[in-house]
Amino acid sequence: MRTTGSLRPEPLDPTDREAVTAFRHAADRTFLQTLGTPEEIATLSRLMAGDRLSRILDGGRTVATFRSFDTDLTLPGGSALPVNAVSAVTVAATHRRRGILTTMMRADLAAARDRGVAVSALFAAEAGIYARFGFGPATRSAPLTLASPRVRFREDAPVGGTVELHEPGEVGAELRAVQERTRRGRAGGLSRSRAWWQHTTRPGGFPAATRVVLHRDEDGEPDGYALSEGIPAWDHEVSNARMVVPQLLAATPEAYCGILETLASTDLVRSVELADRPLDDPLPWLLVDERAVTSGPVRDALWLRVLDAPAALSARSWWGTGEAVVEVVDETPEAFAAGTLRIAVEESGRDAEGWARAEVTPTTADPDVRLGADALAALLLGGSDVMTLAAAGRAGGTRSGLRRAALLFGTDREPWCDTHF
Ligand SMILES: CC(C)(COP(=O)(O)OP(=O)(O)OC[C@H]1O[C@@H](n2cnc3c(N)ncnc32)[C@H](O)[C@@H]1OP(=O)(O)O)[C@@H](O)C(=O)NCCC(=O)NCCS
Repeated sequence: MRTTGSLRPEPLDPTDREAVTAFRHAADRTFLQTLGTPEEIATLSRLMAGDRLSRILDGGRTVATFRSFDTDLTLPGGSALPVNAVSAVTVAATHRRRGILTTMMRADLAAARDRGVAVSALFAAEAGIYARFGFGPATRSAPLTLASPRVRFREDAPVGGTVELHEPGEVGAELRAVQERTRRGRAGGLSRSRAWWQHTTRPGGFPAATRVVLHRDEDGEPDGYALSEGIPAWDHEVSNARMVVPQLLAATPEAYCGILETLASTDLVRSVELADRPLDDPLPWLLVDERAVTSGPVRDALWLRVLDAPAALSARSWWGTGEAVVEVVDETPEAFAAGTLRIAVEESGRDAEGWARAEVTPTTADPDVRLGADALAALLLGGSDVMTLAAAGRAGGTRSGLRRAALLFGTDREPWCDTHF
């Protein structure tokens, strides 16, 4: 039988530099990275000041790490839900598969639930790890690549405002203002703390060649940015440079289009590689030749774990109206999300933008849909479809019940998470 023996997680003071160094180095080793420098650890220690860190020591050595912190997740309709974000999950190669992750995760989920938090969130290093704890993939993304020489924007593409080029350190406030706006505009957005921004915009926080392409609206307010890094390459005196864009945030169609036109028309550049785009990215629709853009593999991005189903479902807004009875089967020992709920959304309750709130009540009625905790998490932001889950055997019910639930859970846009942690 697997056992963690006498090894127990213990909390770690994020201001204890020596302990944070051991924590970071243990995580670096397990993530196969070079060890963090004292300068990086100093800024990390500030970044994590209010976070919950835990570790497992064996003979004085840190052999497992776990971090969680508070952030706000944007739900369908724009409301913000406080969530427990989990990161730095590592177990040393010498201690794997003894149940250490299980022990640390269960403790963290129970503590979050005790604090009244309705949802935990994480990015998974591997997609096979977290469903067993009730997590499901709630957002997805895919890279897009533009063949620059073939790009021509349509005559009717949205235009307006101005584009500027900056070094990241020059426009920290603008980056922050844009992200604060865009993360509220789409389900899956996450708030970033002041410390997060200080950490990422510190000297050396971005790769050295990172430039900011900043868009301002007609009033001069920043409404979009791209972080871009030109990668020069020469084939027999002919440029074959790539423009790598790890992040592009745009609050308006004009900002999105203006930034992309600038990137695609940059001299010497043959391709623009946009990482992690939402699945409904409008780029192909902006171009005269939509085959100038190719899409890479679709990947799971933000994973959620519902700890309090009535609270999570009541906090989001609904695009569809009607009623569905959903039974959630939660096979984890704590069964946080287990139960049968009636979700009722009234047409008359729609606001000016078409969103309505649901009444979510426990019921003993027969369910229309029966699904697992991980499937519920995948549906929460509208990023998965009940019918697709049913086709995979991950949701069961009558055809009409499944359809009703599918209409109810569907949303206006694909959810997307703009912040990797
Ligand atoms: C992933 C990791 C944290 C797992 O830790 P661990 O202590 O070995 O996990 P546990 O022993 O608690 O495993 C619990 C279950 O998850 C399974 N599991 C663990 N890691 C897995 C993986 N990478 N893929 C698939 N299943 C995995 C185990 O087989 C076990 O299954 P079982 O209960 O059916 O026997 C550890 O292997 C690790 O640090 N990996 C490298 C870094 C990493 O990927 N971290 C995650 C960051 S999001």
